[in-house]
Amino acid sequence: MNNIVLIGFMGVGKGSVAREVVKNSSYIAIDTDDLIESMENRKIKKIFEEDGESYFRELEKNIAKWLEKNVQNTLISTGGGLYKQENLKKIGIIVLLDSPFDAIIERIKKHPNAARKLKKRPLLQDLKKAKALYEERRPEYLKVADIVIDVTNKSAKECSKELLKKVKKYA
Ligand code: S3P
Repeated sequence: MNNIVLIGFMGVGKGSVAREVVKNSSYIAIDTDDLIESMENRKIKKIFEEDGESYFRELEKNIAKWLEKNVQNTLISTGGGLYKQENLKKIGIIVLLDSPFDAIIERIKKHPNAARKLKKRPLLQDLKKAKALYEERRPEYLKVADIVIDVTNKSAKECSKELLKKVKKYA
């Protein structure tokens, strides 16, 4: 399989790190939310609004199965909840991008498109609930991760360098 699977909480920078890894390696990147949106021909936000979260989780399950069967040598960035899929470890090496909740929110707020970044994520609408979700998930993220990268106050470029180095050692 040889895939790298990037996991981590919403807004931690999975997309930015994936783009940097692509620039500095021969990996091609795909993103599970993008795959779901193109499969459904509608945005994640719309899917949540029209069919609810459990329907979205079913879509993630189908995507995870499809990835396991069909994808190789690829960097796969995932939506923040995809790590729960039971076949996760069969898809590739699991790399967690880790950062404290407050640092993640600060990171989003600093972005020029902060409002859009917050708005497109149904589970970030209520920050109190989002924090509780973070607290619940963080030990689970750490449990499934093969490699952990602390991304706090690091640029995407620094993170991508660290990722490529750690993956090389791991292989
Ligand atoms: C989710 C994270 C989102 C997206 C959906 C649910 C989650 O992806 O899959 O809104 O459960 O954490 P990002 O992690 O890219 O924001």
